[in-house]
Amino acid sequence: MVLRRPRRAGLDMSHQDHLAPVFAQYPIDVQHAEGVWLHTRNGRRILDLYGGHAVASLGYGHPGWTRALTQQAQSCNFQSNAVPMDVRVRAAERLVRFAGMDMDTVFFVNSGAEANENALKMAFTMTKRPHVAAIEGSFHGRTPGAGALTWGAAQKWFGYPRAPFDVSFIPRKDSSAIAAHVTENTAAVIVEPVQGVGGAFDMGAEFLLALQRRCKDVGALLIFDEVQCGMGRTGYPFAANMYGISPDMITTAKALGNGFPCAALLMSPKVAAAVKLDALGTTFGGGPMACAVIEAVIEAIESEHLLERVQRVSAYIRKTCVVGPITGHQGAGFLTGLITTRPAKAIQAELLEQNILTGTSGYSNVLRLLPPFVLEEQHVDLLRDALAAMRA
Ligand SMILES: Cc1ncc(COP(=O)(O)O)c(C=O)c1O
Repeated sequence: MVLRRPRRAGLDMSHQDHLAPVFAQYPIDVQHAEGVWLHTRNGRRILDLYGGHAVASLGYGHPGWTRALTQQAQSCNFQSNAVPMDVRVRAAERLVRFAGMDMDTVFFVNSGAEANENALKMAFTMTKRPHVAAIEGSFHGRTPGAGALTWGAAQKWFGYPRAPFDVSFIPRKDSSAIAAHVTENTAAVIVEPVQGVGGAFDMGAEFLLALQRRCKDVGALLIFDEVQCGMGRTGYPFAANMYGISPDMITTAKALGNGFPCAALLMSPKVAAAVKLDALGTTFGGGPMACAVIEAVIEAIESEHLLERVQRVSAYIRKTCVVGPITGHQGAGFLTGLITTRPAKAIQAELLEQNILTGTSGYSNVLRLLPPFVLEEQHVDLLRDALAAMRA
C-alpha cells in the first residue's frame, strides 16, 4: 500500500513511496554533501543550519570520521559486547575524559530514547520508587518511559495504554515548584539543561542547581538528557560542564556519532556501583563501528578546537542575526533559538527558498538552529543577509 504524506506549509509530502508516512519532509532531494553544504539533484547548494536534527556535528565528508569508519569496517565490522574489543574500551575512556566530571562509567546504546530508558531503569533499581519528574516542554524520546516523560506526548502520540510509572511535570525554570514535584516517592528527575524541541530553551544555572539540591535532599537521582545539547553543542563538552553541575547520569546521542547511530549513558561512580551483571543489555550498542566514530568525533572536536569555534560563531549569530523578523535569541551555543515576530514555519520556508535550511520547534515563534560545529562567520553572514531582506 502506498500512502500519501500529509501536507504542511513549506514542506512537500506529495511523493509516493513505501515508507511509513509519519514524517513531514522538506522539498529537497539531497544527492551529496560536504562541510556545511547540501547539494540537491537539481543543482541547488543549501546551507545546512539544522544538521539532520543536531546530528551532523562535524558536518559532511569529514576526513577523520570517514577514515575511522572505513578502517573499522575493513578490520572488523561487528562483535557484540560479549567479545572484548580495544576500540570499545578506548571510546569509553575517551568519552569519560571528554566529559571531564564525576562520570566514570559508560553504557553504549543506539539511540537517545534507549539511553534515557536505561538511565530510568538504573534510577528505579537504585531507589525502588515509582515516580519520575520531568520538565514542561521536554522531549525525551518515543519509547514508553521516555515518551511518558515527554511534554504533550500523551495528548499527541504516546499511544501506549498507560505510562509505565508515575510522572509529573515541573514548570520550566520555576524553582518554587520543585519541592511539590520531587519527593521521597521520586526515583529521578530528568531534565534537558538546554531544551531542544522545547525551542532551544536554556534552563539556567539557578533552576538546575535547585533541582540538584532537591534531588540530594530526597534521595532522587538527577539525569541530564544531553541527547541534543551534549557533545559540544553548547560550546562545552556537555551543558553540565557549562553550568558546573555534575548530575548522577548523563545521556547523549546525536552529535556523538555524526550520523552513525550511537548513544551513551554516562554514570557517576555512585550509579556505576549499582550496575550488576546482566542488568542492562543491547546487541548493537557499543559495536566497533560506533565506537570508532565516537573516538573520531571526540578527536576532531579536540584537535580542531571546535568547542571554541562553537562559542565564537554562536556569539556571532546572536550579535548579527537579530534582524528582519527576528527579535531576540535563546538557548546556548549551536542550540540557538531565534525568536520570530511571525510563525517560524513561514520564515523557515522563506529561508529554504533562499537555500538556507533551518529548523522549528514545539514553540511556534522559535526558529531553531543546530548547525555543524564547523560553521564559520561567513556562513552566518548569509543567514543574516537573508533575514534582513525579509518582511519583519
Ligand atoms: C533531548 C532529546 N532526548 C531524547 C531524544 C530521542 O532521541 P532518539 O530519537 O535518538 O531516540 C531526542 C531526539 O530528538 C532529544 O532531542
